Amino acid sequence: MYRERNKGANVPQQINHKVLVEPESIADRVKVLGRQITEDYEGKDLVILGILRGAFVFVADLAREIDLKFEVDFLAISSYEGKESTGKFVVQSDLRAQIKGRDVLIVEDIVDSGNTVSFLMNHLAPHKPNSIKVCSLLAKSESYTKNPQVDYLGFDIPSAFVVGYGLDLDGYFRNLPYIAHVID
Ligand code: IMP
Ligand code: MG
Repeated sequence: MYRERNKGANVPQQINHKVLVEPESIADRVKVLGRQITEDYEGKDLVILGILRGAFVFVADLAREIDLKFEVDFLAISSYEGKESTGKFVVQSDLRAQIKGRDVLIVEDIVDSGNTVSFLMNHLAPHKPNSIKVCSLLAKSESYTKNPQVDYLGFDIPSAFVVGYGLDLDGYFRNLPYIAHVID
């Protein structure tokens, strides 16, 4: 479901926020993840599948830390609006890569309830990839309602709302170079 064009009018110019993860810490962790992925996918037919829109910054940095030949694709998804995660999803733009027999690494910004990852697993399985793994920059493991598969994790954080480094508040603040808690 696309947002109304003027929705940003309700989003303040500035938000109170407290930095939770500094850019340097993010960069260090992304390097480590990139090294692990490079080792694990040596000799495999890797497809990095970034989940839009939140993962676009992470994918850009992570991809440059992976020293292999691989393909990058994206899938855009949104869950229905609402305070509770309903587990109902709309695929706004599906992947284009052929993933049959290939090794797919889903790259997410954050795993909260775990519903999105579960949906993606079910959505991709019929394409018969050789393997599907999940790399998420952030997880709020306290909020898991089901135990999602997360094979590579950047940081486990408390379950308060965060913005920056791709993550948004109503579509804004994705450009902050750090990850920050939003303070009401
Ligand atoms: P899940 O399906 O509950 O695991 O939610 C995952 C999705 O919710 C993420 O891909 C984000 O788009 C969004 N999300 C969850 N927590 C946050 C947050 O703190 N800030 C911004 N987006 C979030
Ligand atoms: Mg997302």
